[in-house]
Amino acid sequence: MCGIVAYVGPKEAAPLILEGLRRLEYRGYDSAGIAVRSDAGGGTLAVVRCEGKLARLEEAVRRAPPSGTRGVGHTRWATHGRPSERNAHPPQVGRVAVVHNGIIENHLEVRRRLEGQGRTFASETDTEIAAHLLDEALAAGASLVEAMRRAVRQIEGSYALAAVDARTGDRLVVAKNASPLILGIGDGEMFAASDIPAILPYTNRVIPLEEGELAELTRDGVRIEDAAGRPVSRAVRRIDWSPLQAEKGGFKHFMLKEIHEQPRAVEDTLRGRIVADRTGVFLEGAELDDETARSLHRVVLVACGTSFHAAMSGQRWLEGLAGVPAVAELASEFRGREPIVGEHDLVVAVSQSGETIDTLAAAKLARERGARILAVANVLDSAIPRAAHGSLYTHAGPEIGVASTKCFVAQLAALALLALRLGSARGRLDAGGLAELTAALLRIPGRMREAIARNSGVETLGRALASAPNWLYLGRGRSYPIALEGALKLKEISYIHAEGYAAGEMKHGPIALIDRNVPVVAVVPHDEQFEKMMGNVHEVHAREARVVAVTDREDPELRTLSEEVLTVGETLPAFSPFLTVLPLQLLAYHIADFKGTDVDQPRNLAKTVTVE
Ligand code: G6P
Repeated sequence: MCGIVAYVGPKEAAPLILEGLRRLEYRGYDSAGIAVRSDAGGGTLAVVRCEGKLARLEEAVRRAPPSGTRGVGHTRWATHGRPSERNAHPPQVGRVAVVHNGIIENHLEVRRRLEGQGRTFASETDTEIAAHLLDEALAAGASLVEAMRRAVRQIEGSYALAAVDARTGDRLVVAKNASPLILGIGDGEMFAASDIPAILPYTNRVIPLEEGELAELTRDGVRIEDAAGRPVSRAVRRIDWSPLQAEKGGFKHFMLKEIHEQPRAVEDTLRGRIVADRTGVFLEGAELDDETARSLHRVVLVACGTSFHAAMSGQRWLEGLAGVPAVAELASEFRGREPIVGEHDLVVAVSQSGETIDTLAAAKLARERGARILAVANVLDSAIPRAAHGSLYTHAGPEIGVASTKCFVAQLAALALLALRLGSARGRLDAGGLAELTAALLRIPGRMREAIARNSGVETLGRALASAPNWLYLGRGRSYPIALEGALKLKEISYIHAEGYAAGEMKHGPIALIDRNVPVVAVVPHDEQFEKMMGNVHEVHAREARVVAVTDREDPELRTLSEEVLTVGETLPAFSPFLTVLPLQLLAYHIADFKGTDVDQPRNLAKTVTVE
């Protein structure tokens, strides 16, 4: 994620940009920076950048306020290059400074070309190439807008960019592709930002830019053009949200917003990792070359909480798609025994925060015993990636709700990629098989969007069931981790007792609990476990349980046995967890909201558990 803000108008830019960034801090807080243009000496740029939270930048600006009436600002959630001042935005090259939200996929290639021409780079970020490309064009005599046109033509990936040039006094230029960018239309002043809250205190008149568009902002107006350079005219929208509502994107809670951000989290995690012809998976930074991949005897996944459920899904993909022995372990249990791990084991430590103490300790223990460690984390350069040999980052952006949602599906995406990478390196998947799976994976975000839209009505079901004190969630095979995750979500935020169980084990205990007061959520997609799961559904139905079925497509038999059937749409059976988890998150959310609990910060829970 990352938040960007741009301002051009009659007022001092720095305080306005800082205020905007403060409202975007939920998008990232690894570092922050601003660039302000002043008219002094025919045009100069003052750039201030700080590692850490925005407060540090505010302090630095207070000490030496940059003066000028146009500028850009950035609050960073690191994706390429560790959080540091050096990697903070905006990078400045020559007379131009630029801020960026997104992931530039071809940055290494462009960087090599630019270095070959004698350019030197000051940071490890993907963004710095944009500053060089702008500088290259400006130096060749292009205007700022023409420089942006030329730069974006050479960039692949997602970006919202805003550039300020020391010599172009009257305007800023912005561009957008697959990262949000909103123009704010003021009275004699113009804004651009990643999200509405940043501009809402100044204007409620906005124009969201669309893919491939570029805009020039002056005090008096905006000029928008499409990717082909044709002028575009766009209606101005009026926003009537309060600033707090706006921060939550109009959603009542961050958790609900994050549930809706999940397709994007998966998209960003897949971005740039599947080669264009779909016959290869490229995991930069994971340090898994073909020889290493082939030499592995086993993969051990260690994690806690929701990340453990992602790890369990990963185990199933590693076995089923990569043909490699795999096991998922609770990190606290793994580190609490004398685990047998060694040099032919890959230990995958899955952690949203990258800081969870048990997962960190498990990774360190395995490393001491000679295993190769791969971190799957959402926070760049956090403790677990630092303790690992390689890292595979999820790109979910910061997650504010304590109950994890978008980080979970991003972990699923990362682990599916890992399975495909190992499967192809080890010869388990041929080019055709890999292409089929990668194509299906790339379609997942679209399917997720449909599934979320289709299930927004679970609110009514949630109200009907909210008073039930005990719930059972059942699944088999790839749906078992999803049953566990559904039950965890319900207990975390609604404080209702819920148990996730492997459906095959139901007869060995939980069936004794079932009566007409117990909702049973059955995760039952049409896969190889379908018939067996239907057997379980019959059994609980016969005992009068209130069955809520989660499935991929309508099924008459399931319909007659269930109080409610939640359909999520179809994908390759292997990837159904991406979809089946969605109604379970929404159901838990709506029950908690109906009960009036503190959804985003449930009692007794912490986002990151760094104590034992
Ligand atoms: C806490 C959080 C959970 C999270 C778990 C593991 O319990 O509330 O949402 O799944 O920690 O955290 P990690 O950062 O390692 O994924």
